[in-house]
Amino acid sequence: MSLRVLVCCGSGGVGKTTTSAALAMQAALCGQRVAVLTIDPAKRLADSLGIGPLSNTPQRVPLQHIGIETSGHLDALMLDMKATWDGVVRRFGGSHQAQQRILDNRYYELASTRLAGSHEYMAMQRLYELYESGDYDLILLDTPPTRHAMEFLSAPQRLNGLFDEGVMHWLSLPRSKRGFKALERGSEVVVSVLKKLIGAGTMEEIAEFFDAMKGMWAGFQERSAAVDALLASDETRFVLVTTPAPAARKEAQEFADLLAETQRPFGGFVVNRVVPFPGPQTRITPAQLPPRPDAVPEETWRAASLALLAAADRQQTLADGEAKAMAQLREQAGGSVSLWTVPELEADVHDLRSLAILAKHLAPAIQELGQI
Ligand SMILES: Nc1ncnc2c1ncn2[C@@H]1O[C@H](COP(=O)(O)OP(=O)(O)OP(=O)(O)O)[C@@H](O)[C@H]1O
Ligand SMILES: [Mg+2]
Repeated sequence: MSLRVLVCCGSGGVGKTTTSAALAMQAALCGQRVAVLTIDPAKRLADSLGIGPLSNTPQRVPLQHIGIETSGHLDALMLDMKATWDGVVRRFGGSHQAQQRILDNRYYELASTRLAGSHEYMAMQRLYELYESGDYDLILLDTPPTRHAMEFLSAPQRLNGLFDEGVMHWLSLPRSKRGFKALERGSEVVVSVLKKLIGAGTMEEIAEFFDAMKGMWAGFQERSAAVDALLASDETRFVLVTTPAPAARKEAQEFADLLAETQRPFGGFVVNRVVPFPGPQTRITPAQLPPRPDAVPEETWRAASLALLAAADRQQTLADGEAKAMAQLREQAGGSVSLWTVPELEADVHDLRSLAILAKHLAPAIQELGQI
């Protein structure tokens, strides 16, 4: 199998983190060495994996606690932006002294956690480190909620843009001993306004930070290119997670178009929280209704009985509607794409057992993707 990376994308709250964990669990059940890198997981999921708080280093999920015997294993990590940034600085920051200059800068911590695109960029960095380690057959990458699908894929370029030499020059060069001495008239004005706004001393410190980071630029670019190549390669598949809700489907559809445009390999849709078709055991006939308890007024009992009798039909109508919507989703994506469904559970996914239920539903996905 050449598949090494699965990236779960989708709009906010559709179940990306849960799906990544469930897919990872299912792959581990199939005997693979798997890591799931989650981003800011719902706290209960982190707790429910049975390993306490997740951190930047992989922790083994105790699958044996729910009676699972497998030759594979599942490790979980949560992206720690600061720790990953520190690793990047240590790797690309040049001499020990140069690295320390960056790590000690007052703006480093702020920049390393707040820069737009930093989250996504660091997720990809960490993914690449796990990939390079060779410790895993398969790595699942959960992605942060995006306002728009485009944001995740374009984040590395945006961050690279920030470290682009143009910005570097503008902020850190040219400087004289007396402070900024911009070459271009335009930037001279901007710099002088900024100096007035935030103070010349602060500007100097920020400029010092960018100046220190400049040495990392080549490393940044090289690493970005490697991550980009991996994400476009045959070793990667993007899984688009959605719910049957129109807004989520629309975004999944847009994401599928974007993947095609940017030549990223599309693995298939996971439609989460689907209403299952009602089984025969869900239907109730009027003859099966118990007699009205004395405490319940006749009118109330009548309404409740009618609702109960109609429940299965309603569920059928909902499920029919969703099936139609899902067929449309596939059709719009070219007809031959894969689509897997995960039912809505009665409660949130809050322990290994409920995650295992979802994992089972995703067995066809792991099987199909495993043939890549
Ligand atoms: N099939 C399901 N049945 C029941 N609950 C579910 C199901 N899938 C997800 N959930 C619950 O929905 C909530 C949101 O799921 P999750 O955190 O995985 O979404 P997300 O897409 O990662 O969200 P965000 O965009 O905020 O990162 C969680 O509480 C989770 O337990
Ligand atoms: Mg999430």
